[in-house]
Formats: sequence, C-alpha cells, structure tokens
Amino acid sequence: MQVIETVAKLRLVVQEWKRRGLRVAFVPTMGNLHQGHLSLIDLAKQKADKVVCSVFVNPLQFGPDEDFERYPRTFEQDKKLLSEQGADLMFFPEVAEVYPNGQSEQTLVKVADSLTALLEGANRLGHFDGVTTVVLKLFNMVQPDCAVFGQKDFQQLQVIKTMVSDLALPIQIITAPIARDKEGLALSSRNQYLTSQQRQIAPKLQVALLDIAAALQSGNRDFNALCHVASQRLLQQGFDAIDYIQICDPTTLLPASDSNQEFVILAVARLGSTRLLDNILL
Ligand code: PAJ
Repeated sequence: MQVIETVAKLRLVVQEWKRRGLRVAFVPTMGNLHQGHLSLIDLAKQKADKVVCSVFVNPLQFGPDEDFERYPRTFEQDKKLLSEQGADLMFFPEVAEVYPNGQSEQTLVKVADSLTALLEGANRLGHFDGVTTVVLKLFNMVQPDCAVFGQKDFQQLQVIKTMVSDLALPIQIITAPIARDKEGLALSSRNQYLTSQQRQIAPKLQVALLDIAAALQSGNRDFNALCHVASQRLLQQGFDAIDYIQICDPTTLLPASDSNQEFVILAVARLGSTRLLDNILL
C-alpha cells in the first residue's frame, strides 16, 4: 500500500490507474480506524479495482468547543490496518495541503438547513458545512468513480447524497451497513471510553430501536408514543440522557407521517459524556 501526502502525487497515481481503465473507490475517514471503517474498505474492494482511503482530521467540521486537538491520531496503527485490509493507497494530507489558503478560504459547500440544522446539526452549528466542504474537496483531489460511507452516520450520508445529486457529481455513493459488535453495539471509536458497567448497558440502545422497528412493522403509527416509551425505558436501564429518538422520513429526515412507506429510526443516547449514535432503516 502506498502512503501519499500530497495532492500532486495522489493525482499522478490515480490518473495512471484510470489510464489503465481501472475503477477507483474512495473511503474518507478521520483515522483511529476500527472494524467499522475496515468493513467500508471491504465493500469498496468489492465495488472497484483500486481503493483509496483518506485519513484526515478535518478542522472545519469541529466547533470551537469540540475535540479537534484531542481527536486521536493513530497513524502507524491506521497504516497497518489499511494495508492488512488490502487498501491500495492511504491519502494522509496535512491541514495545509487540504486548506492551502488557510483561514482566508472563501468557498464553503452548504446543503440546506432543512437537512443540516436538525438532529446532529442542531447543536453543532456549521458541522455539516465542514463535512460537505471537505468531502467535495477530497472528491476533487481523488476523483473516484464511487465512494463508500457508513449508514452509522445516517444524516451525514443523506447530506452527502444530496450534495452529490444537487451538484451533479459523477460519483456513485455506496452505503455500508452498520458494523456492530457481537452484543449489537454499533462500532465507534467512542466505545473505548465506556466503563465496563456502561459497556453492559450500551447494547440496549439497539434493542430499543429494534422494538420500535417491530412496532412499526406491525402497523403501529403512534410515533411519538413509541419514541417516548423507548426513551423512558433506556433511562431506567441506566442511560444518563437521551439526546433524541426520532422516527423520520429517510430522505428528508423530517418527522415521519402516516403516509410514509419507509422509515429511519434515529437515536443518540448518552452514557456519561459518551454519545452513542445508532439507527435502523426500514
Ligand atoms: P469517521 O468518523 O472517521 O467515519 C468514516 C466513515 O466510517 C463514515 O462513513 C462512517 O459512517 C463510517 N463508520 C464509522 N463507524 C461505522 C460502523 N460501525 N459501521 C459502518 N460504518 C461506520 O465520518 C467521518 O469520519 C467524517 O465526517 C468524514 C466523512 C471523513 C469527513 O471528514
């Protein structure tokens, strides 16, 4: 596996692959990789001849009070994992390579507030603008045929699909299912902060979502009551707070209505200061 830090070198390699008629898949990440990320690499390998994975902690998507400086940077371990998983190229740029104009950069890619100012965007002003700006830049640097994103970050996926469609980007977006541990907890680098007692409680989040899914499938449309009951039960089971449990339209992310055929149940629950995200699409 090659490790490349500059856009110029990256373009040379990808151009050579394209000249040979090879299909290129791209997996953007912020590093500190776990099995969830690696499942994206596996899917990318099935969809293309060559796989590029970026490891870039993007300052633009962190708020001033968020953990940009403290975000774990584990380059050697990430390089080893990506190489073992069979990625062809690890793109590992410095901040100045991605944002050469620094603070004076004037273009921001913004998907409408109707998708980005709710749920995860509600308390993180500008977060999704930071995500779409860096993802579009990375797309332009790598120029892949397809890109893989995890369903784990459902809103992020929906925002990126919207950007790709609205800007007519010639890139196929592929969704990877949520990778879970054997207890059903969605894999996340944040899981490492859980105490052993919190670790026992955490899988109950997925159980609560599965219960709501079963109720929806049997025809229950009392959305608010379903979410309320699930929240109360999770608090009784030991969660410290429920940021939200909502049944939404999977495309607009607006609260579901009786006319919906498809649903996504989105949830964020807290154990101590750790936020656990999960969702089920049906
Ligand atoms: P990061 O949090 O590193 O996640 C990279 C990708 O891994 C995302 O597409 C995310 O949805 C996926 N992922 C994480 N845990 C997963 C799991 N348990 N199962 C399936 N997929 C999982 O998301 C970002 O980085 C950034 O916002 C980024 C898109 C790279 C832009 O900076």
